[in-house]
Amino acid sequence: MKAIILVGGEGTRLRPLTYSVVKPMVPVANRPFIEHVICKLALHGIDEIVLAMGYKPDSIYAYFKDGEGLDVKLTYSLEEKPLGTAGAIKNASGHIKESVFVLNGDCFSDLDYSDMHRQHLRNKAKATIALTHVEDPTRFGVVETDASGRVLRFIEKPKWEDVTSHWINAGVYILEPDVLDYIPDNQFYMFENGVFPRLLENGAPFYAYHNRAYWIDMGTPEQYHRINSDLLLGNCSSPLHAARDLIISEGCEVHPSASLTGPVMLAEGCSVGAGARITGPAVIGRGCRIAGGAVIENSLLWEDITVAEDAIIINSIIASGAKINKGQRLQGQTINHKAPTT
Ligand code: GTP
Repeated sequence: MKAIILVGGEGTRLRPLTYSVVKPMVPVANRPFIEHVICKLALHGIDEIVLAMGYKPDSIYAYFKDGEGLDVKLTYSLEEKPLGTAGAIKNASGHIKESVFVLNGDCFSDLDYSDMHRQHLRNKAKATIALTHVEDPTRFGVVETDASGRVLRFIEKPKWEDVTSHWINAGVYILEPDVLDYIPDNQFYMFENGVFPRLLENGAPFYAYHNRAYWIDMGTPEQYHRINSDLLLGNCSSPLHAARDLIISEGCEVHPSASLTGPVMLAEGCSVGAGARITGPAVIGRGCRIAGGAVIENSLLWEDITVAEDAIIINSIIASGAKINKGQRLQGQTINHKAPTT
């Protein structure tokens, strides 16, 4: 079966991190986020994946090419201008000859895609939407269903007094090819306020797949931090990551008096000086130099970062190439030296 992943958005909510890399390529446990998603789909027998791209596609293509080394064939569908979530799928219609998974490229979950597909077939559905349960649905697109799981209504970001369901759109759909008829050609068009309401108006068999598997939208720095921690802690799973207390890659030099309290991941070529203290969950990317006496707690450091003596970094995210000064203290910050200064 095929999947199309939407990776064309600008990722403005993930700034300042997306001044360095596009959202699908931000590192999660030292691999591009979207690689985790692709490998999870492959586990469920999805053997062909189309990346629907618009915004800055080059780095994605340069990394993945035709999917060599992955268990899937990768192809690309490019937009000249942003077409929105549904417009991007219409643009990729040449790839859609049978039922297809469509995924928002910023959602990560432990969803059982195979089971969702079985349910789609049982229901003879035109479209199936995965729903995830949240305590606070007021920030999300809430979906109401009947007892048989048929979708009744979408409510975008309801106020608390209007909350009638805690089930939200998880950004994973299965569509039959004729759903494309609901999407205009070469026009900006969205699923949430375009295709889905029209499916309901036409009485099409549109079903929900309720599930409580791990789910996260990694579109903000806080959520992006959380998915890294959750993967390290084993709260969610990826075929690219085996949760272990300490993962120390080749070429790392850790001084015997340094202390690492897991889960901590050190990518290739990192050094950790005398008396430095790293407390997990923490991911340290390739080539980082952490000087003696430095303290790092619950933080994500991308690549090639210098942390000078006695610096303290707590609950923070630091994009590649930064230099943290001697004794500098960062707490709860997201830092990218490539961000434009205003
Ligand atoms: P923000 O700018 O932070 O809102 O991020 P976004 O636009 O990347 O994300 P949003 O939540 O609006 O979109 C959900 C998913 O659809 C994300 O994975 C986006 O990459 C993707 N997406 C949004 N708009 C487009 C588009 O015009 N084309 C394509 N191909 N994908 C899109």
